[in-house]
Amino acid sequence: MTSPSLSTEQRIQITEANCPRNSMAEDVEKGLTNNPKVLYPKYLYDDRGSELFTEICALPEYYQTRTERRILKACSMSIAENYRPTTLVEYGAGAAKKTHQLLDAMREVGTLRNYVPIDVSSAFLQESAMRLAERYPRLTIHGLTGDFLEQIDLPYPDEPRLIAFLGSTIGNLTDDEADIFLHQITSQMNTGDLFLLGTDLVKDVAVLEAAYNDSQGVTEKFNKNILGVINRELNADFTPHTFHHHAFYNPVERQIEIHLVSKEKQSFRIEAIDLTVEFEKGESVRTEISCKYTKRRIMKLLRQ
Ligand code: SAH
Ligand code: TRP
Repeated sequence: MTSPSLSTEQRIQITEANCPRNSMAEDVEKGLTNNPKVLYPKYLYDDRGSELFTEICALPEYYQTRTERRILKACSMSIAENYRPTTLVEYGAGAAKKTHQLLDAMREVGTLRNYVPIDVSSAFLQESAMRLAERYPRLTIHGLTGDFLEQIDLPYPDEPRLIAFLGSTIGNLTDDEADIFLHQITSQMNTGDLFLLGTDLVKDVAVLEAAYNDSQGVTEKFNKNILGVINRELNADFTPHTFHHHAFYNPVERQIEIHLVSKEKQSFRIEAIDLTVEFEKGESVRTEISCKYTKRRIMKLLRQ
Protein backbone atom coordinates (compact mmCIF):
# COMPACT_ATOMS: atom_id res chain seq x y z
CA MET A 1 0.00 0.00 0.00
CA THR A 2 1.26 3.49 -0.80
CA SER A 3 2.43 5.37 2.25
CA PRO A 4 0.07 8.15 3.27
CA SER A 5 3.06 10.24 4.27
CA LEU A 6 4.14 10.80 0.67
CA SER A 7 3.46 14.37 -0.44
CA THR A 8 1.00 15.18 -3.22
CA GLU A 9 3.87 15.83 -5.64
CA GLN A 10 5.61 12.58 -4.73
CA ARG A 11 2.56 10.57 -5.66
CA ILE A 12 2.27 12.12 -9.14
CA GLN A 13 4.27 11.08 -12.15
CA ILE A 14 3.52 12.25 -15.69
CA THR A 15 5.38 10.64 -18.57
CA GLU A 16 5.16 10.59 -22.36
CA ALA A 17 3.32 7.49 -23.55
CA ASN A 18 4.54 7.62 -27.13
CA CYS A 19 6.12 9.79 -29.77
CA PRO A 20 3.29 10.68 -32.12
CA ARG A 21 4.18 9.22 -35.51
CA ASN A 22 2.39 11.87 -37.51
CA SER A 23 3.52 15.36 -36.75
CA MET A 24 0.93 18.11 -36.69
CA ALA A 25 2.46 19.51 -39.90
CA GLU A 26 1.85 16.25 -41.76
CA ASP A 27 -1.65 15.84 -40.32
CA VAL A 28 -2.70 19.36 -41.25
CA GLU A 29 -1.23 19.11 -44.73
CA LYS A 30 -2.97 15.81 -45.33
CA GLY A 31 -6.30 17.05 -43.99
CA LEU A 32 -6.42 20.38 -45.78
CA THR A 33 -5.34 19.00 -49.17
CA ASN A 34 -8.03 16.31 -48.87
CA ASN A 35 -11.34 16.76 -50.67
CA PRO A 36 -13.47 17.39 -48.59
CA LYS A 37 -11.20 19.18 -46.14
CA VAL A 38 -10.82 17.72 -42.66
CA LEU A 39 -8.82 18.45 -39.51
CA TYR A 40 -7.88 15.97 -36.80
CA PRO A 41 -9.95 16.52 -33.65
CA LYS A 42 -7.07 15.95 -31.24
CA TYR A 43 -5.80 19.45 -32.18
CA LEU A 44 -8.95 20.95 -30.64
CA TYR A 45 -7.48 20.29 -27.19
CA ASP A 46 -4.65 22.74 -26.54
CA ASP A 47 -4.75 24.61 -23.19
CA ARG A 48 -7.48 26.98 -24.37
CA GLY A 49 -9.44 24.16 -26.04
CA SER A 50 -9.28 22.06 -22.89
CA GLU A 51 -10.65 25.00 -20.90
CA LEU A 52 -13.48 25.50 -23.39
CA PHE A 53 -14.31 21.80 -23.38
CA THR A 54 -14.67 21.92 -19.61
CA GLU A 55 -17.17 24.75 -20.11
CA ILE A 56 -19.06 22.66 -22.70
CA CYS A 57 -19.50 19.88 -20.14
CA ALA A 58 -21.38 22.26 -17.84
CA LEU A 59 -23.72 23.68 -20.52
CA PRO A 60 -27.46 23.04 -20.08
CA GLU A 61 -27.72 21.75 -23.67
CA TYR A 62 -24.85 19.31 -23.24
CA TYR A 63 -26.76 16.48 -21.59
CA GLN A 64 -23.98 13.90 -21.93
CA THR A 65 -21.80 14.86 -18.98
CA ARG A 66 -24.55 14.99 -16.37
CA THR A 67 -26.22 11.85 -17.74
CA GLU A 68 -23.03 9.84 -17.68
CA ARG A 69 -22.24 11.10 -14.19
CA ARG A 70 -25.65 9.84 -13.06
CA ILE A 71 -25.07 6.44 -14.67
CA LEU A 72 -21.64 6.17 -13.07
CA LYS A 73 -23.08 7.11 -9.72
CA ALA A 74 -25.60 4.29 -10.04
CA CYS A 75 -23.18 1.57 -11.13
CA SER A 76 -19.74 2.40 -9.65
CA MET A 77 -20.29 0.63 -6.33
CA SER A 78 -21.39 -2.61 -7.91
CA ILE A 79 -18.39 -2.56 -10.28
CA ALA A 80 -16.01 -1.92 -7.38
CA GLU A 81 -17.60 -4.55 -5.14
CA ASN A 82 -17.91 -7.27 -7.71
CA TYR A 83 -14.56 -6.90 -9.49
CA ARG A 84 -12.38 -5.16 -6.88
CA PRO A 85 -10.08 -3.25 -9.27
CA THR A 86 -7.06 -1.56 -7.65
CA THR A 87 -6.16 0.54 -10.66
CA LEU A 88 -8.23 2.88 -12.80
CA VAL A 89 -6.88 3.53 -16.30
CA GLU A 90 -8.77 6.29 -18.10
CA TYR A 91 -8.33 7.06 -21.79
CA GLY A 92 -9.07 10.67 -22.82
CA ALA A 93 -9.44 11.52 -19.13
CA GLY A 94 -9.78 15.26 -19.74
CA ALA A 95 -10.58 17.20 -16.57
CA ALA A 96 -11.43 13.86 -14.90
CA LYS A 97 -14.46 15.27 -13.12
CA LYS A 98 -16.69 12.19 -13.46
CA THR A 99 -13.80 9.97 -12.44
CA HIS A 100 -14.64 10.71 -8.78
CA GLN A 101 -17.60 8.36 -8.97
CA LEU A 102 -15.36 5.40 -9.80
CA LEU A 103 -12.48 6.38 -7.50
CA ASP A 104 -14.85 6.99 -4.56
CA ALA A 105 -16.38 3.53 -4.99
CA MET A 106 -12.96 1.85 -5.22
CA ARG A 107 -11.86 3.71 -2.09
CA GLU A 108 -14.99 2.71 -0.24
CA VAL A 109 -14.44 -0.94 -1.08
CA GLY A 110 -10.83 -0.49 0.06
CA THR A 111 -9.05 -1.54 -3.14
CA LEU A 112 -8.02 1.83 -4.63
CA ARG A 113 -4.29 2.22 -5.35
CA ASN A 114 -3.47 3.69 -8.75
CA TYR A 115 -4.95 6.07 -11.27
CA VAL A 116 -3.58 6.24 -14.82
CA PRO A 117 -5.11 9.13 -16.80
CA ILE A 118 -4.16 9.19 -20.49
CA ASP A 119 -4.63 12.34 -22.57
CA VAL A 120 -3.09 14.30 -25.42
CA SER A 121 -3.63 17.45 -23.34
CA SER A 122 -0.91 17.82 -20.74
CA ALA A 123 -2.76 20.85 -19.36
CA PHE A 124 -5.66 18.58 -18.43
CA LEU A 125 -3.36 15.94 -16.93
CA GLN A 126 -1.35 18.31 -14.73
CA GLU A 127 -4.41 20.00 -13.33
CA SER A 128 -6.47 16.91 -12.67
CA ALA A 129 -3.51 14.99 -11.18
CA MET A 130 -2.97 17.70 -8.57
CA ARG A 131 -6.66 17.89 -7.73
CA LEU A 132 -7.10 14.12 -7.41
CA ALA A 133 -3.89 13.61 -5.44
CA GLU A 134 -5.23 16.03 -2.86
CA ARG A 135 -8.65 14.44 -2.75
CA TYR A 136 -7.28 10.87 -2.44
CA PRO A 137 -4.30 11.01 -0.06
CA ARG A 138 -3.16 7.42 -0.71
CA LEU A 139 -3.57 7.42 -4.47
CA THR A 140 -0.61 7.07 -6.83
CA ILE A 141 -1.17 8.89 -10.10
CA HIS A 142 0.73 7.90 -13.20
CA GLY A 143 -0.39 10.18 -16.05
CA LEU A 144 0.50 9.37 -19.63
CA THR A 145 0.55 12.08 -22.30
CA GLY A 146 0.17 10.92 -25.85
CA ASP A 147 -2.05 9.90 -28.72
CA PHE A 148 -4.30 6.99 -27.79
CA LEU A 149 -4.50 5.93 -31.43
CA GLU A 150 -0.83 4.96 -31.18
CA GLN A 151 0.47 2.06 -29.09
CA ILE A 152 0.43 2.85 -25.36
CA ASP A 153 1.89 0.30 -22.96
CA LEU A 154 -0.34 0.27 -19.90
CA PRO A 155 1.35 0.15 -16.51
CA TYR A 156 0.40 -2.15 -13.62
CA PRO A 157 -0.16 -5.34 -15.69
CA ASP A 158 -0.20 -7.42 -12.51
CA GLU A 159 -3.04 -5.47 -10.88
CA PRO A 160 -6.76 -5.89 -11.58
CA ARG A 161 -7.41 -2.83 -13.74
CA LEU A 162 -10.59 -1.01 -14.63
CA ILE A 163 -9.96 0.54 -18.05
CA ALA A 164 -12.46 3.32 -18.77
CA PHE A 165 -13.19 5.27 -21.94
CA LEU A 166 -15.94 7.75 -21.15
CA GLY A 167 -17.68 10.79 -22.60
CA SER A 168 -18.55 8.97 -25.83
CA THR A 169 -15.06 9.88 -27.03
CA ILE A 170 -15.15 6.61 -28.98
CA GLY A 171 -17.78 8.35 -31.13
CA ASN A 172 -15.15 10.85 -32.22
CA LEU A 173 -13.19 8.04 -33.90
CA THR A 174 -13.91 6.61 -37.35
CA ASP A 175 -14.97 2.95 -37.33
CA ASP A 176 -11.47 1.93 -38.44
CA GLU A 177 -9.84 4.00 -35.71
CA ALA A 178 -12.21 2.60 -33.09
CA ASP A 179 -11.32 -0.90 -34.23
CA ILE A 180 -7.56 -0.29 -33.94
CA PHE A 181 -8.07 1.41 -30.60
CA LEU A 182 -10.11 -1.43 -29.11
CA HIS A 183 -7.70 -4.09 -30.38
CA GLN A 184 -4.84 -2.26 -28.71
CA ILE A 185 -6.67 -2.37 -25.41
CA THR A 186 -7.94 -5.94 -25.57
CA SER A 187 -4.48 -7.20 -26.55
CA GLN A 188 -3.17 -5.86 -23.23
CA MET A 189 -6.00 -7.00 -20.99
CA ASN A 190 -5.34 -9.81 -18.53
CA THR A 191 -7.84 -11.98 -16.69
CA GLY A 192 -9.49 -9.78 -14.09
CA ASP A 193 -9.16 -6.54 -16.06
CA LEU A 194 -12.38 -4.74 -17.02
CA PHE A 195 -13.27 -2.37 -19.83
CA LEU A 196 -15.91 0.30 -19.25
CA LEU A 197 -17.17 2.20 -22.29
CA GLY A 198 -19.42 5.30 -22.23
CA THR A 199 -21.33 5.92 -25.45
CA ASP A 200 -24.09 8.32 -26.44
CA LEU A 201 -27.22 6.81 -27.99
CA VAL A 202 -29.29 7.99 -30.96
CA LYS A 203 -32.07 10.30 -29.78
CA ASP A 204 -34.29 13.17 -30.85
CA VAL A 205 -32.48 15.25 -33.50
CA ALA A 206 -33.35 18.55 -31.82
CA VAL A 207 -31.76 17.38 -28.57
CA LEU A 208 -28.67 16.11 -30.39
CA GLU A 209 -28.19 19.26 -32.45
CA ALA A 210 -28.72 21.63 -29.50
CA ALA A 211 -25.88 19.89 -27.64
CA TYR A 212 -23.43 20.99 -30.34
CA ASN A 213 -24.99 24.42 -31.00
CA ASP A 214 -25.27 25.88 -27.51
CA SER A 215 -26.91 29.26 -27.05
CA GLN A 216 -23.86 30.77 -25.32
CA GLY A 217 -21.61 30.02 -28.30
CA VAL A 218 -19.04 28.05 -26.28
CA THR A 219 -19.02 25.18 -28.78
CA GLU A 220 -18.47 27.69 -31.58
CA LYS A 221 -15.43 29.10 -29.76
CA PHE A 222 -14.14 25.58 -29.11
CA ASN A 223 -14.50 24.68 -32.78
CA LYS A 224 -12.82 27.87 -34.03
CA ASN A 225 -9.99 27.47 -31.55
CA ILE A 226 -8.51 24.80 -33.81
CA LEU A 227 -7.64 27.54 -36.33
CA GLY A 228 -5.82 29.45 -33.60
CA VAL A 229 -3.86 26.31 -32.77
CA ILE A 230 -2.76 25.95 -36.41
CA ASN A 231 -1.90 29.67 -36.61
CA ARG A 232 0.32 29.38 -33.55
CA GLU A 233 1.94 26.01 -34.16
CA LEU A 234 2.40 26.17 -37.93
CA ASN A 235 2.72 29.91 -38.47
CA ALA A 236 -0.53 30.29 -40.41
CA ASP A 237 -2.88 33.23 -40.96
CA PHE A 238 -6.41 31.80 -40.59
CA THR A 239 -9.06 34.34 -39.55
CA PRO A 240 -11.57 32.46 -37.35
CA HIS A 241 -14.26 35.18 -37.72
CA THR A 242 -14.51 34.49 -41.47
CA PHE A 243 -15.88 31.01 -40.72
CA HIS A 244 -19.30 29.85 -39.42
CA HIS A 245 -19.63 27.11 -36.83
CA HIS A 246 -21.93 24.46 -38.32
CA ALA A 247 -22.96 21.31 -36.44
CA PHE A 248 -25.72 19.00 -37.65
CA TYR A 249 -26.94 15.43 -37.35
CA ASN A 250 -26.30 13.20 -40.35
CA PRO A 251 -29.04 10.55 -40.07
CA VAL A 252 -27.46 8.25 -42.67
CA GLU A 253 -24.15 7.94 -40.82
CA ARG A 254 -25.89 8.45 -37.46
CA GLN A 255 -23.37 11.07 -36.44
CA ILE A 256 -23.11 14.69 -35.49
CA GLU A 257 -20.70 16.45 -37.86
CA ILE A 258 -18.94 19.60 -36.83
CA HIS A 259 -17.67 21.93 -39.52
CA LEU A 260 -16.20 25.37 -40.07
CA VAL A 261 -17.80 26.93 -43.15
CA SER A 262 -16.04 29.68 -45.05
CA LYS A 263 -18.16 32.85 -45.23
CA GLU A 264 -16.37 33.98 -48.39
CA LYS A 265 -13.93 32.91 -51.07
CA GLN A 266 -10.57 33.25 -49.39
CA SER A 267 -7.11 31.76 -49.07
CA PHE A 268 -4.63 31.29 -46.23
CA ARG A 269 -0.93 30.60 -45.88
CA ILE A 270 0.51 27.93 -43.62
CA GLU A 271 4.18 28.88 -43.62
CA ALA A 272 5.53 25.85 -41.74
CA ILE A 273 4.39 23.53 -44.52
CA ASP A 274 4.63 26.08 -47.33
CA LEU A 275 0.97 25.56 -48.23
CA THR A 276 -1.69 27.92 -49.55
CA VAL A 277 -5.21 26.71 -48.74
CA GLU A 278 -8.11 28.02 -50.79
CA PHE A 279 -11.75 28.04 -49.69
CA GLU A 280 -14.77 28.71 -51.88
CA LYS A 281 -17.63 30.65 -50.29
CA GLY A 282 -19.66 28.03 -48.36
CA GLU A 283 -16.89 25.42 -48.47
CA SER A 284 -16.31 23.70 -45.18
CA VAL A 285 -13.64 21.90 -43.24
CA ARG A 286 -14.85 19.13 -40.93
CA THR A 287 -13.25 19.27 -37.51
CA GLU A 288 -15.08 16.50 -35.65
CA ILE A 289 -17.60 13.70 -35.86
CA SER A 290 -19.56 12.35 -32.90
CA CYS A 291 -21.20 9.00 -33.63
CA LYS A 292 -24.50 8.28 -31.96
CA TYR A 293 -25.01 4.62 -31.26
CA THR A 294 -27.74 2.05 -31.29
CA LYS A 295 -27.15 -0.88 -28.97
CA ARG A 296 -26.68 -3.01 -32.07
CA ARG A 297 -23.87 -0.80 -33.39
CA ILE A 298 -22.06 -0.89 -30.04
CA MET A 299 -22.33 -4.66 -29.86
CA LYS A 300 -20.97 -4.98 -33.40
CA LEU A 301 -17.98 -2.81 -32.49
CA LEU A 302 -17.31 -4.76 -29.33
CA ARG A 303 -17.75 -8.16 -30.95
CA GLN A 304 -15.05 -7.31 -33.50
N1 SAH B 1 -13.41 11.96 -20.44
C1 SAH B 1 -13.77 13.37 -20.38
C2 SAH B 1 -13.22 14.18 -21.58
C3 SAH B 1 -13.80 13.83 -22.92
S1 SAH B 1 -13.25 14.94 -24.18
C4 SAH B 1 -15.26 13.49 -20.31
O1 SAH B 1 -15.94 12.48 -20.43
O2 SAH B 1 -15.76 14.60 -20.11
C5 SAH B 1 -12.08 13.96 -25.03
C6 SAH B 1 -10.73 13.92 -24.33
O3 SAH B 1 -9.87 13.06 -25.09
C7 SAH B 1 -10.01 15.26 -24.24
O4 SAH B 1 -9.50 15.40 -22.95
C8 SAH B 1 -8.91 15.20 -25.30
O5 SAH B 1 -7.77 15.95 -24.93
C9 SAH B 1 -8.63 13.70 -25.36
N2 SAH B 1 -8.20 13.24 -26.68
C10 SAH B 1 -8.80 13.48 -27.87
N3 SAH B 1 -8.16 12.85 -28.88
C11 SAH B 1 -7.10 12.20 -28.30
C12 SAH B 1 -6.06 11.37 -28.80
N4 SAH B 1 -5.97 11.09 -30.11
N5 SAH B 1 -5.17 10.86 -27.92
C13 SAH B 1 -5.25 11.14 -26.59
N6 SAH B 1 -6.21 11.93 -26.04
C14 SAH B 1 -7.13 12.46 -26.90
N1 TRP C 1 -16.75 13.52 -26.98
C1 TRP C 1 -17.49 14.75 -27.17
C2 TRP C 1 -18.73 14.45 -27.97
O1 TRP C 1 -18.66 13.84 -28.98
C3 TRP C 1 -16.64 15.81 -27.82
C4 TRP C 1 -17.36 17.10 -28.11
C5 TRP C 1 -18.39 17.65 -27.41
C6 TRP C 1 -17.10 18.02 -29.15
N2 TRP C 1 -18.74 18.86 -27.97
C7 TRP C 1 -17.99 19.09 -29.01
C8 TRP C 1 -16.19 18.03 -30.19
C9 TRP C 1 -17.99 20.16 -29.91
C10 TRP C 1 -16.18 19.11 -31.06
C11 TRP C 1 -17.06 20.17 -30.94
O2 TRP C 1 -19.81 14.80 -27.60
